[in-house]
Amino acid sequence: MNVLVTGGAGYIGSHTVVQLLNQGHSVIIVDNLVNAHPNVLERIERITGKSPMFYDYDLCDERSLDEVFSVHSPDAIIHFAGLKAVGESVEQPLRYYHNNLTSTLTLLRVMQRHSVKNIVFSSSATVYGDPDTLPITEAAPLKATNPYGQTKLMIETMLMDIAKTADWHIISLRYFNPVGAHQSGLIGEDPSGTPNNLLPYVSQVAIGKREKLSVFGNDYNTPDGTGIRDYIHVVDLADAHLAALSHIKDTTTYRAINIGTGKGTSVLELIDSFQAASSKEIPYDILPRRAGDIASCYADVALAKDELGWEAKYSIDEACEDSWRWQSQNPNGYSE
Ligand code: NAD
Ligand code: UFG
Repeated sequence: MNVLVTGGAGYIGSHTVVQLLNQGHSVIIVDNLVNAHPNVLERIERITGKSPMFYDYDLCDERSLDEVFSVHSPDAIIHFAGLKAVGESVEQPLRYYHNNLTSTLTLLRVMQRHSVKNIVFSSSATVYGDPDTLPITEAAPLKATNPYGQTKLMIETMLMDIAKTADWHIISLRYFNPVGAHQSGLIGEDPSGTPNNLLPYVSQVAIGKREKLSVFGNDYNTPDGTGIRDYIHVVDLADAHLAALSHIKDTTTYRAINIGTGKGTSVLELIDSFQAASSKEIPYDILPRRAGDIASCYADVALAKDELGWEAKYSIDEACEDSWRWQSQNPNGYSE
């Protein structure tokens, strides 16, 4: 397939591009590098021996996107591009609504104009808000608790309506917590500034960039009192996109599918796992709960197995080993 990957220079996008190229697909990346480093492209080439086409375009720029479609006639789109920091979305709601919604609307209009109607969209477990029951199935009520989550819900709603019209094949993958890095140590997560997410923060403590971790709350209703999440290895997540692409023509109605491991891991368990992987001590303080956090979140993954024939292969220990390889071989991320 000829696959156009929006946001393909980002964390999940770059790992997916590697898997696509390794499976013999051709790849066109459109990414304005608002949250990615240009060096990732050379790393992708080192891993795969192939180079994807790359366009440094903003997806909101309809004329440029139209040109990309005219030149490359993609068969399918994987749509990763978007802003994703929850806290920032609360501070800059207009920027988040504008970027995430306008880019998606522009993409969908251009797709329609070129009769390209196969799309896999990056949704998130954030659409479940604070879940009533665990594990979370796709039938759980949808609710957003911040502007970032609202953009995911709004886009899913649009896609649901569009999927009812002729010839569209649409799958939204609802990711749980992506972690880890490619086993080569050449690509991984490279957050700018202070990491918001747990594993990149732990990893920066291990390498000595940050003094200690703040554990946000140990009084949740969980076995050790710390928050529980479903951490999914980014290479497993990348493979889920390939599985979705190969099943996309089977979907005649809108499909939203959870992508997780089905297993929950607490903050303290993740620290233990990272300490074992890195042979470094991770000092931490217990702080009050972080506003907006929920106690536990993990996926029911039966639908992904039934519909896509996909399930996670890698454990949290393997994710920590791969994150540590990436962090220790690239202490400054992609910057040299
Ligand atoms: P990322 O920030 O690393 O990748 C997103 C990419 O999109 C970046 O390279 C950025 O430069 C690009 N981009 C943003 N706006 C753009 C625009 N208008 N035009 C062109 N390019 C643009 O994030 P990621 O972690 O790889 O996430 C990919 C997708 O998965 C996002 O949609 C995110 O919301 C979703 N998601 C991520 C997580 C997570 O925890 N990482 C969880 C659930 C869902
Ligand atoms: N945590 C800490 N210390 C930190 C960072 C996190 O203790 O420095 C804890 C949190 O309280 C939580 C767990 O680690 O219990 C995981 O937190 P993350 O910030 O890594 O992940 P979240 O589950 O809060 O959020 C992530 C993405 C969201 C997405 C959500 C659901 O950041 O965008 O998963 O998919 F919406």
